Amino acid sequence: MPFLIDDINYAQKELNTFRFRTSAINDGSIHERFIFPFLCGSYFTYRKVDVERITSIAKAVSKDPTYLDVGCGYGDFLEKIIQHLPNAEGIEKSADIFFKLGRYKPDYIKIGDAYNGIDKKYDLIFVGWMEPGVDYRDRIAASTDVIITTLDQGLSLAAEFEGHGFEKIASWITPSWEDINTEITNKYYSKISNGTIELLKELRGAHNLWYIYSKPKYKDTIKETLRKSSKKDYNRDVYEHEKILDECGFSYNEVLPSNPDICLWKINFEE
Ligand SMILES: C[S@@+](CC[C@H](N)C(=O)[O-])C[C@H]1O[C@@H](n2cnc3c(N)ncnc32)[C@H](O)[C@@H]1O
Repeated sequence: MPFLIDDINYAQKELNTFRFRTSAINDGSIHERFIFPFLCGSYFTYRKVDVERITSIAKAVSKDPTYLDVGCGYGDFLEKIIQHLPNAEGIEKSADIFFKLGRYKPDYIKIGDAYNGIDKKYDLIFVGWMEPGVDYRDRIAASTDVIITTLDQGLSLAAEFEGHGFEKIASWITPSWEDINTEITNKYYSKISNGTIELLKELRGAHNLWYIYSKPKYKDTIKETLRKSSKKDYNRDVYEHEKILDECGFSYNEVLPSNPDICLWKINFEE
């Protein structure tokens, strides 16, 4: 079920209280984006590498790419994409999240329902987080040849597109906001001892899956683009919020002790 405006209002009040009580430790507001993901960040954890992988795919399939973020919320991720793809747009069903909370709505976010509001073809469609009970895969599949989804294991709907004439090309794993929230909350907002925090770190997991789908004609181009992009040094060129990911034990290419098969952000290519 998509959430109600009362839930968002409640979350906003909690955020105000959090800001009031924790101004001394809420590190330059960066903690907020992981504790209040909808209001201050995104439901998936990303680095600059994710933005550049996605935008380089869009540029590989079109000279002047069009891009749509479906269910973009306040557009935290979309803002980063627009720095690389000036034509990028978002579609968001709820007008209330802007107007009832007095938040600015940029022109590049259109209020509309993905079930009937996608009115043209896009070079790439991004589906950041499909809520349980929401499924607009048919509409998306009809409006593009390249789809990128993120899926929070156990929380969001499995947004798979093989049944819609698409092939899965590649995937990678990142932490979800909840993984980071747990680490930050243990470290900064609990009375757990340092020893226990270190012990708990060993158990950390990462639950956000990124899938790249395309029509077969783009398969080789996309694979080649992703291979090229993985040669850049993403330990240096980062967003400000990435320092929290490093600090919490979710570095770029980190192998998690709880699951040595997972190397964060490593691209897995489908055969
Ligand atoms: C869980 S939030 C994710 C928001 C943002 N992508 C993020 O990661 O923070 C899902 C968003 O999808 C929007 N949404 C749900 N159903 C939709 C639909 N049919 N068309 C467009 N947006 C929709 C909701 O209003 C909500 O803002």
